[in-house]
Amino acid sequence: MKLNNGYDIPQLGVGTWTLRGETAIANVCQALKVGFRHIDTAQMYENEEEVGQGIAESGVPRNEIFVTTKVNTHNMRQGAEAVRQSIDESLRKLNTGYIDLLLIHWPVKDCIKHTWQVMEAYVRAGKIRSIGVSNFNEHHLDELLSYAEICPVINQIEVHPLMSQEENIAINHELGIQVEAWGPFGQGDIDIVGLPLLQDLAKKYGKTTSQIVLRWIIQRDLITIPRAKPNHFAENLEIMNFTLSQEDMAAIGTLNQNLRSDAKNDPENFPW
Ligand SMILES: NC(=O)c1ccc[n+]([C@@H]2O[C@H](COP(=O)([O-])OP(=O)(O)OC[C@H]3O[C@@H](n4cnc5c(N)ncnc54)[C@H](OP(=O)(O)O)[C@@H]3O)[C@@H](O)[C@H]2O)c1
Repeated sequence: MKLNNGYDIPQLGVGTWTLRGETAIANVCQALKVGFRHIDTAQMYENEEEVGQGIAESGVPRNEIFVTTKVNTHNMRQGAEAVRQSIDESLRKLNTGYIDLLLIHWPVKDCIKHTWQVMEAYVRAGKIRSIGVSNFNEHHLDELLSYAEICPVINQIEVHPLMSQEENIAINHELGIQVEAWGPFGQGDIDIVGLPLLQDLAKKYGKTTSQIVLRWIIQRDLITIPRAKPNHFAENLEIMNFTLSQEDMAAIGTLNQNLRSDAKNDPENFPW
């Protein structure tokens, strides 16, 4: 996918939330070895060092890999200097020379402006290629765009068949901001893969339910970053060789219930 600053991002990547220590290193290394080229981490996940190690151990050239991390809400609350220090720490821990994409993790009230201005300075300094946001609704974007000198390239939000986010996605796309779907499988906490319609479609297309979900996301021109154990990697990668009909795309769209995998993940109720 093309970002609004000219850089490309692989539409399908892998998430690393909850992965720690050796598991995180091995997971990232294996993901790159089987063909993923896009890794998503965050300061909050406390695994940036391991993600960096996994990248190094994979042997895949740096310029083939897209790495995202996110500024922790705690650091945002501490002010601009804390944000600066946290970005330096992310650069040191990842040890990838530069970061492809840095996101504001959550729209922390009264902390977005100073965080964004620090992030813009890192882009100008060439240490960060692209900057974006996560869990932003329309009014958060409006606020940011009122002073931003650099437009966000991405808004990473929760998207799965029970939380289709049609309106928010349309708003972002109108602004030239790509949308990245986190939690495509409802974080494994709500039963997405057990939905009868998805199971019927899996049979119809000769695919798994997970592949139907990822394909539905990809065909909506979204980016996505499923987290998986290595035994699911091949399955999650093999979604580019079939197409869901318009009719079936629309049918999945009717499953929406605006249901978050966890009610506390509502940006309007932030901070939790
Ligand atoms: N910006 C934000 O605020 C935010 C919030 C949450 C997450 N994220 C990012 O988005 C990434 C993805 O979201 P997530 O980790 O919350 O949850 P997710 O990707 O929706 O779900 C992960 C669960 O799906 C299972 N799974 C993966 N592939 C599967 C397959 N082919 N068949 C069956 N089950 C499968 C995994 O099981 P196995 O482990 O057994 O494979 C795991 O239990 C995160 O890792 C993180 O990088 C961002």
